[in-house]
Amino acid sequence: MPMRLRENISLRAYHTFGTEAKARYFLEFTDSAELADLLRENPRLFDPVLVLGSGSNLLFTRDFPGMVIRPAVTGITVEKEDDHHVWLRAGAGVVWDDFVRYAVEAGWGGVENLSLIPGRVGAVPVQNIGAYGREAASVISSVTGVAVPSGEIREYGAAECRFGYRTSIFKEELRERFIITSVVFRLDRVPELVLEYGDLRNEVEIKDEAGNENENEVKTGDEERDKVKVKIKAEVEIKKEIGDEGQNDVEAKISSTNRFDHQVAGPGPVGGHNIDITVTDVREAVIRIRRRKLPDPSMLGNAGSFFKNPVVGASTAARLRAAYPAIPVYPSGEGLVKLSAGWLIDQCGWKGFRKGDAGVHRDHALVLINYGGATGKEIFKLSEEICRSVQERFGVDLEREVIVV
Ligand code: EPU
Repeated sequence: MPMRLRENISLRAYHTFGTEAKARYFLEFTDSAELADLLRENPRLFDPVLVLGSGSNLLFTRDFPGMVIRPAVTGITVEKEDDHHVWLRAGAGVVWDDFVRYAVEAGWGGVENLSLIPGRVGAVPVQNIGAYGREAASVISSVTGVAVPSGEIREYGAAECRFGYRTSIFKEELRERFIITSVVFRLDRVPELVLEYGDLRNEVEIKDEAGNENENEVKTGDEERDKVKVKIKAEVEIKKEIGDEGQNDVEAKISSTNRFDHQVAGPGPVGGHNIDITVTDVREAVIRIRRRKLPDPSMLGNAGSFFKNPVVGASTAARLRAAYPAIPVYPSGEGLVKLSAGWLIDQCGWKGFRKGDAGVHRDHALVLINYGGATGKEIFKLSEEICRSVQERFGVDLEREVIVV
């Protein structure tokens, strides 16, 4: 596809909230060199600039006065490989879940927990997408793109990306200053599954109980897949350690590990069996959970989690636990505790709320919804009311996860 520059384009079809907003310029490109040339010849057009993949993490509250760019770079290629890993380069325009499916079908591990997350590859490092105990940062090896306004093509190694919880250098310092064109992911030839997230573990267990009559049967004829030995034992040991402490002892958990950014599973091996689980099993379990809990953006306008899960100090967590013994808390590094924004919002009674066409999802309070005709401003206003009520009731500030334009 040749590079295509258009003017005064409605963005409604280009972001998952589906609210109305216009872009002064709208550019789709497949060739980084062409983009770099245009940028050098006409930097004025790119001031300001906004990169949009599937638009699954954006809320437009106004028209965009500059250039909206939609990378259409496709293709997945093997960059290099050794006995343990394979490095795959994927174009920024590749649909993320197509990439996950590709990796899982090859039997390579590292992204299976991130199945079915909406969006394209280019957005993956920006957001450092994460779900069910895994973050993209753990598999990203490098990020390549075009600098704005110089047009220089640059590569950032993983350490330079400054990944954090749902953030990176591309969402902060380099926001509007770097257009990602491709990402290299390092995947494991022998997958090490991450199953400590409670929901996921339960879902895999259900599958195991159904399929466990024939434990020794090989699930697939594929040589590579048969070799996959799930290194689950170590995970189970860690889980035992954490699980034995129970949810009550926050202080003890805080210093124990920061691997558990979400729910901490109880002790014991998965399903009580010594089972072989494949990346395909994990992908299928994740897909089932997501379909149950989260609305499909193609059916109902939304951008997934609207807020981040707030991270607070141990004393705040202890205060909240004393007042609300059922509050979910997760260790999040030295002296820090992650709370569940969904739970806090739910407790304030927002789940299922609707005013006009702006609302809160009936099954998950962290997801704001456009039922059809809501404006970006209405959704933003609703998010402000939610923040206020959570602050009033719990004394906790919520931070938006979506990028507000
Ligand atoms: N909860 C409620 N009420 C709700 C929603 C949740 O009480 O309305 C409680 C749940 O019962 C559970 C806890 O809150 O105890 C956590 O909920 P959940 O397991 O659904 O996960 P989350 O922390 O709300 C995060 C990510 C999701 C990701 C899931 C699974 C953030 C901001 N969100 O949600 O990511 O899929 O974990 O790992 O970190 C996204 O970023 O768009 C996204 C969907």
